[in-house]
Amino acid sequence: MENFEFRNPTKIIFGRDGEDKVGAETAAYSRKILLHFGGGSIKQSGLYDRVTASLRAANVEWIELGGVKPNPRLSLVHEGVRLCKEKGLGLILAVGGGSVIDSAKAIAMGAVIDGDVWDFYLGKGQPTAALPVGTVLTIPAAGSEASTGTVITKEEGWLKRAVNSDLIYPRFSVLNPELAFTLPPFQIACGAMDITAHLMERYFTNVKNVAFTDRLLEATMKTIIAQAPKLIRNPKDYDAWAEFMWAGTIAHNNLLNTGRIGDWASHDIEHEISGIYDVAHGAGLAVVFPAWMKHVYKQDVERFVQWAVRVWNVELDVFNPQAVVLKGIARMERFFTSLGIGTTLDSLGIKDDRIDEMAEKCTDGDTRTVGNFVKLDRKAVAAILRLAR
Ligand code: NZQ
Ligand code: ZN
Repeated sequence: MENFEFRNPTKIIFGRDGEDKVGAETAAYSRKILLHFGGGSIKQSGLYDRVTASLRAANVEWIELGGVKPNPRLSLVHEGVRLCKEKGLGLILAVGGGSVIDSAKAIAMGAVIDGDVWDFYLGKGQPTAALPVGTVLTIPAAGSEASTGTVITKEEGWLKRAVNSDLIYPRFSVLNPELAFTLPPFQIACGAMDITAHLMERYFTNVKNVAFTDRLLEATMKTIIAQAPKLIRNPKDYDAWAEFMWAGTIAHNNLLNTGRIGDWASHDIEHEISGIYDVAHGAGLAVVFPAWMKHVYKQDVERFVQWAVRVWNVELDVFNPQAVVLKGIARMERFFTSLGIGTTLDSLGIKDDRIDEMAEKCTDGDTRTVGNFVKLDRKAVAAILRLAR
């Protein structure tokens, strides 16, 4: 196991009616805030009314900035930064999914600097301060509600890039499983894929003697596999959402990363797909992950066998470990197909004419590799994308 330090400061407020506490939680940081949300789902569901009532009751004033798109855009981040600076706002409250939360985190970093926050996404410097962020989560998927990450797309060049910083852990996150009842089946399936991907990125490591976190990762994967089909059948199943939502947060709050070195190549490759084609992140991962596995599993067949046997209940065959691995991958593909998302580029309507461009962007023109389990150069990334056709 690797040495590690672990501290996740995000306060989780879990369960029914959590959004009624948002005013008091916010007021502990600021009474003048930016209320940030997406394209309208929170107004249709009535959540907007409950959140604003709670803010009003706690004497918190707010300026609104809605309209965050899935794969959140830099131009709206700039708008939020401008509002925070001009109006002297002290917290960003994100009500929505990963896209809204990531946009809020970007605004939080941008509001306290003179330069352009995009520089951080290009790796030019590290943030040294940020406004506090609070969240009310409406879709368990990205894990941004308790993560160090933010992923933003710059429209010019359709570049999707991430920043990780301890400064942008949300101060509090409201996790009310009922808020997910209105999700369409496609978004449930994408969430299940993204959560599973966060677990697999951590699972496939070259670090030895990580048996404890292996077991935690396997348990969390099995939780998603057990609950997701129930949610597709009945999106108002509170108990299933409660398991799924908490698993989604734990999958990405870095607890399950302790002592390990994760891979993250599939995420880097997927960000090129959703950056260019604007597809849902989870749908992109369902395409990239199986192809990545087929490309890299020979690096550590034993680890892949363990995953196939323990997570997908494939029967162990010591004489034919590769067949066990391939059965595991096939079961995973069948599972996500059964939830309603495809596992090929074709299923996303993507032809292969821009594969070389994606591989080029992903590796910064072959000047860097992606992934840790196996380090992938431009040629390897292109090979994986071709395998995903
Ligand atoms: O915009 P609205 O109207 O709210 O609709 C959203 C959006 O269309 C809808 N939705 C959300 N909650 C709903 C709902 N519809 C009905 N009822 C509800 N309760 O769902 C759509 C997708 O929302 P989005 O926020 O884009 O989804 P998700 O949470 O999957 O976030 C995806 C983004 O997170 C990034 C991804 O790259 C992508 O840009 N990620 C962020 C990470 C992080 N910060 O740590 C890690 C992840 O790996 C990921 O990369
Ligand atoms: Zn993800």
